[in-house]
Amino acid sequence: MSTIPLAPTSDTWIAAALADLPTLLVDHAHCERKAAQTALRFMAQHADWDALVMPLSRLAREELVHFERVLRELDHRGLPFRSLAAANYAAGLMSALRPASPPRTGPGVVRSWQGDRTVDEMLCCALIEARSHERFVRLAAATDDSRLRDLYEDLLAAEARHGSLYLELAEEAAGGDVSERLAALAAHEAQVLARPEQPVRMHAGG
Ligand SMILES: [Fe+2]
Ligand SMILES: [Fe+2]
Repeated sequence: MSTIPLAPTSDTWIAAALADLPTLLVDHAHCERKAAQTALRFMAQHADWDALVMPLSRLAREELVHFERVLRELDHRGLPFRSLAAANYAAGLMSALRPASPPRTGPGVVRSWQGDRTVDEMLCCALIEARSHERFVRLAAATDDSRLRDLYEDLLAAEARHGSLYLELAEEAAGGDVSERLAALAAHEAQVLARPEQPVRMHAGG
């Protein structure tokens, strides 16, 4: 299986994120909620994809456990959970999706999920999960707040596993190797991340 190539997060982002912990933690909670929501959407959209439905159901449950963990951390710190304007990272990432392949019928019929668009969606999700993992590792190493370090260290292995799962799904949708497309989307992800004047968000700022 391919490995997920990511441009490293800058020290500037790490410092800015740790300097605005209330925003970072609220945004983190929303990231976990959105990860569960995306998995549920894929389960509805691709109900005939055996390799996807059960693993993404587990992933969605796990993301909600993460969501609750971050909510408890906010509560412990006396910080309210609240709505937060999105930095449109996922939307920026998904702007690179290739169109859906036209459905085929008759001999050699393919499932709706076997095509370029689904490959790209799964690769974008793999990149989002990998980015979470990369940032949790960096934040855990940089903070001198032991509770915060424990939070990131507890969550990072799951995010790496989720990245691998989405990558496997991309390979199944493609029916083969996806490393070239993954490298192209990883380069796009780095550009989306590095857009100027981004607010403090788990997935914004290069
Ligand atoms: Fe998570
Ligand atoms: Fe995840």
